Amino acid sequence: MIQIAPSILNADFLQLGNVIEMLNSSEADMIHLDIMDGNFVPNLSFGLPVIQQIKSVAKKDLDVHLMISNPDLYIEEYYKAGANSLTVHYETCPHLHRTIQRIKALGMKAAVCLNPHSPVNLLHEIIGDLDMVLIMTVNPGFGGQKFIEQSYEKIGKLKKMISDRALKTKIQIDGGVNLQNIRPLADAGVDVFVVGSTIFAAENPKEMISKLKNT
Ligand code: DX5
Ligand code: ZN
Repeated sequence: MIQIAPSILNADFLQLGNVIEMLNSSEADMIHLDIMDGNFVPNLSFGLPVIQQIKSVAKKDLDVHLMISNPDLYIEEYYKAGANSLTVHYETCPHLHRTIQRIKALGMKAAVCLNPHSPVNLLHEIIGDLDMVLIMTVNPGFGGQKFIEQSYEKIGKLKKMISDRALKTKIQIDGGVNLQNIRPLADAGVDVFVVGSTIFAAENPKEMISKLKNT
C-alpha cells in the first residue's frame, strides 16, 4: 500500500496555512517537514516555531526529517513542537542507539536516514529498534533534484535485511519521486514516499497526491 508524505519544502510558504488545509483534506498519509540547518546540508529551511504553528492546524501526523548537525541537542524540543515521527541522519549521531532510545521514550516513532553514500549494513545493529529507515534518493538539501538510479539496489538490500529478520521496519525514500518511478519503487519494497516538487509544481497538488497514492 503506497503511503505519501508530502514535503512542504517546495510549497508556497506565503500560503502555508492553505497548504496545510489542502494536505488535511488530501489523501496524504503524513506531512513531511524537512528541517535544514545550513551546516549538515547546504540549505536552511525552517525550525521549531514553524512546526508549532503547523501542528496547531495539521490533522495528519508530522514526519520530521532532521537534516541538522547534533540532533541530540533538540530531540525534546521537536517532540514538544509536535513531531509524531523523528528522523535523524546516521551521519550525525555518534551515539545512535541512545538517540533512538530517547526518541522512543518520548513516544515518537524513530527513524534513521542514510545519505546516498551510506550503505544499509551500517544499520545492522540498530534496525531492530527502528520504526522506519529513510533512504535519501537525492543528495539532501534541495527539492526538485534528479532521482539517484542506484537507489533501487540499496532499497533491495534494505528490504532483504528487513525480511530476513521478519522486522516491521518501514522503508521510506526522499527525493526525485514522480508518477513514473513510484510504482517500480513500491514494487522494489518502498512503503512511504516523500514527495515535494512533483506535488507542489502540479496544477492540482491534491489530485496529484491521489494519483501518486493510487498508481
Ligand atoms: C532533500 C529534501 C527533498 C524534498 C523532496 O533534502 O528532503 O528530497 O523532501 O524533494 P523532491 O520531491 O522535490 O525531490
Ligand atoms: Zn526529507
